[in-house]
Amino acid sequence: MIMSDIKEMSLKYNLHSWSAQKAINPTVVTKAEGIYFWDEDGNQYYDMSSQLVNSNLGHGNKAIVEAIKDQADKIPFIGPGYALDVRSEAAKAIVEASGLEDSKVFFTNAGAESNENAIKIAKQYTDRWKIFSMYRCYHGSSAGAGMLTGEPRKFINEPGAPGFIKYDGPYAYRAPKACKFKTEEDISAFYLELLENQIQYEGPHQIAAIFIETVVGSNGILIPPKGYLEGIRALCDTYGILMVCDEVMAGWYRTGSCFAWQQFNVKPDLVTFAKGSTCGYVPLGGVIVSKKIAESFDHEKMWCGLTYSAHPIGCAAAVATLKEYKRLHIEDNVAAQGKVLGELLANLQAKHACIGESRQIGLFSAIELVKSKETKEPLVAFNYDPDGLMNKIIGMLKAEGFATYSHENMIIIAPPLIITEEELRTAMKMLDKVLDSVDNMIQ
Ligand SMILES: Cc1ncc(COP(=O)(O)O)c(C=O)c1O
Repeated sequence: MIMSDIKEMSLKYNLHSWSAQKAINPTVVTKAEGIYFWDEDGNQYYDMSSQLVNSNLGHGNKAIVEAIKDQADKIPFIGPGYALDVRSEAAKAIVEASGLEDSKVFFTNAGAESNENAIKIAKQYTDRWKIFSMYRCYHGSSAGAGMLTGEPRKFINEPGAPGFIKYDGPYAYRAPKACKFKTEEDISAFYLELLENQIQYEGPHQIAAIFIETVVGSNGILIPPKGYLEGIRALCDTYGILMVCDEVMAGWYRTGSCFAWQQFNVKPDLVTFAKGSTCGYVPLGGVIVSKKIAESFDHEKMWCGLTYSAHPIGCAAAVATLKEYKRLHIEDNVAAQGKVLGELLANLQAKHACIGESRQIGLFSAIELVKSKETKEPLVAFNYDPDGLMNKIIGMLKAEGFATYSHENMIIIAPPLIITEEELRTAMKMLDKVLDSVDNMIQ
């Protein structure tokens, strides 16, 4: 098939996510290897967002591909009620990686479904019906996960099911003007007090769970200030509420540790995951269910089920992926390259008038574009970019060979965790060049 046909057919037959179909011009990808992919004209791109922050091990990982092929040869599918080697191995490896002793895994197909099932598990376990989740968190776009989501992608699901309550969480750069925080602890104390008030007014005895993206991802890498997650854990303990960490994006070494919550002094009751568990080679998500909750299903039926729960090919891919994280010393590479990335971002922030703030943890980062550092006015208005300015900037980056995506006024920088220092430095020079042009735009 000739290349122009592929694009033409795609526009004729595919409906592309989150887009006005006439406004898009999808690149035809012909090859992908390591941290790179190539288009129909042979142009090479640095995959600086790991696709949708899921290609943690980059493209073309042979061990994962072989595991998928092997499983397809052996038993590509058997119903979720049967025990199977890769099914048991995948769950064991995930439980061990979590360090949540005697927890169990309920497998799903992707992130939204993981959150859907976490909602159900929390409701069933607590026999309560209200679910708290934080503004700016994204939890997926299906009916329930979409109601958890605390940003404009939730609108299409509204009014939705009752009981989904949003709380405001820490975002120091854009904290209310009256707040004069001196320390991270001050920020945490302020938002935890607001949250506790809300819990009181919503009736603690009705609240099943508090969901949080451990590190807020697509809404701009918001790292919880000191004491915040610990404070949520304490509120949950006080009121018998379950703490659910959504690690769909932040999990699997993206922030440095296997799961982001492992860098804080908390243990969640439920953890939802997807993306990096198979790095996108095939879909697989799940919920890690802590011991006390898993045990509650020893004799009581758990009301969750999916035809493709613990799909053999997904599980085989997960087993191989988790082994690859270890074999390739990914934790060490994220520590080393995360440090380099942090330094490069600090330099960019100092140099460029258009960067209001950059935020980074591990290989998970974003820069927030503003019209002025002093006023902090965002480069594009919230949920309103009629001129497609951010798309233009993403296009300029792409023309340099730096592929990523934006959200609101933020550019996400989250390369595959296998990136080398040289590759990182080269890619960040491309970003630097484009930011020079953005500086000119705002002058
Ligand atoms: C934190 C988080 N949770 C859930 C989801 C939904 O995952 P999926 O798109 O696989 O349903 C995403 C997707 O980006 C995410 O970032």
